[in-house]
Amino acid sequence: MAISIKQQFEELISVEYKSAIFSASQIAEKYNIKIYLIGGIVRDLILKNQIKDIDIAVEADAIEFANLLEKETDCEVIAIQENLRTAKVKFKNGVEIDFASTREETYTKSGVLPVAHNFGCSLEKDVKRRDFAINTLGLKLTGNDKFTLVDYFNGYKDILNKKIRILHDKSFIDDPSRIIRALKFKVRFDFEFEEQTFTLMQDYLNNVDKTMPLERIKSELKQYFSIQKKGLYNYLIETNAYKLISNNPIKEVDETTFQNEENLWFIYFVLLLVNGEYDERLNLASIEKKILLEVKEMLNRKTPNSNLEIYNEYIDKNDVSLNVYYVISKDKTVEKFLNALKQIKVLITGKDLIELGFIPSAYFNELFEKILKEKLEGKIQTREEELEFVKQFIKKEE
Ligand code: CTP
Repeated sequence: MAISIKQQFEELISVEYKSAIFSASQIAEKYNIKIYLIGGIVRDLILKNQIKDIDIAVEADAIEFANLLEKETDCEVIAIQENLRTAKVKFKNGVEIDFASTREETYTKSGVLPVAHNFGCSLEKDVKRRDFAINTLGLKLTGNDKFTLVDYFNGYKDILNKKIRILHDKSFIDDPSRIIRALKFKVRFDFEFEEQTFTLMQDYLNNVDKTMPLERIKSELKQYFSIQKKGLYNYLIETNAYKLISNNPIKEVDETTFQNEENLWFIYFVLLLVNGEYDERLNLASIEKKILLEVKEMLNRKTPNSNLEIYNEYIDKNDVSLNVYYVISKDKTVEKFLNALKQIKVLITGKDLIELGFIPSAYFNELFEKILKEKLEGKIQTREEELEFVKQFIKKEE
């Protein structure tokens, strides 16, 4: 029986998007082209989740279709991707919609982007290239049965049963980043893995291809780590999915020990990578490499002792490095530094020293260090006490 989700469409899609979709449907019908809402948006409509972006599959050439739309309605093609035959269209009311030609894909090497071909193929062929059944649903936007689902892989049933299921046994081998995507959908929607999908995931993770590029995995991990939920890291360890990127991760993380959650995804990356050899495929930015190295060094050095040692050890370290090092080591000297020592500053300036009768020289820096040391040891605090403290060195000079 045809399933209609017109009601969800009416409730969850904004007036602006509806108007844009209506224009696209009219033009498609005029030229006898079939178009569909596709993938994530259909899944999210069924789940009654908030709708972010709108993707439309065109069973023809999407760039030609977008040009027709531009010619016949009030909208503008603002970007095209020639190789994938996709077009982004901005409508008069400001909303943007991505139009993609239906296509097939062939994987030539594990983890490398597939080769796209047969643009304008049937929707049935198009959805075969996708990751999970829950992402294969289309919603008809043309014809007499508008708003009914097109469901070649029983995705509707999976959504109702909260199941994540791949479409064929080689899916994770073709594209191992789908393992992180599977975790992402599982955590985001509170779904479960279908049994065979979980088995094939574990099979792959026991035999990870160490030569595949890591770009897609990194990008999916970033998305995974930006889900606003607790336990993401430990779940990655528990399911073995960490093996895609790390041989020897920090095994368990207590999220309550985070001193702050800025750059959270990178904090998790360091926890995955800090105990292993650096893998060039990671292609980290130089600041990211620096943080990784800083944490490694802190884990292998002697813990600083005096307040001055603690201060000097940590003052130039990156915040993320300190945060991760603390999460791993629970080293109390970091707490002391962040909560107390870091805030201590010398209040007097060179001008004050000159007024006291010192001749400007490199010796000023030594004096500031002496003051800082006294302050770190809690012997002096105020500006007045600093002034009083340095006076003794004038006498020594004379
Ligand atoms: N896709 C895939 N394999 C990947 C990435 C994407 O098969 N490695 C397919 C999925 O079927 C997905 C579609 O391409 O529905 C679009 O990808 P994306 O925009 O990342 O997915 P959404 O499902 O829209 O996810 P999100 O809700 O996170 O935007």
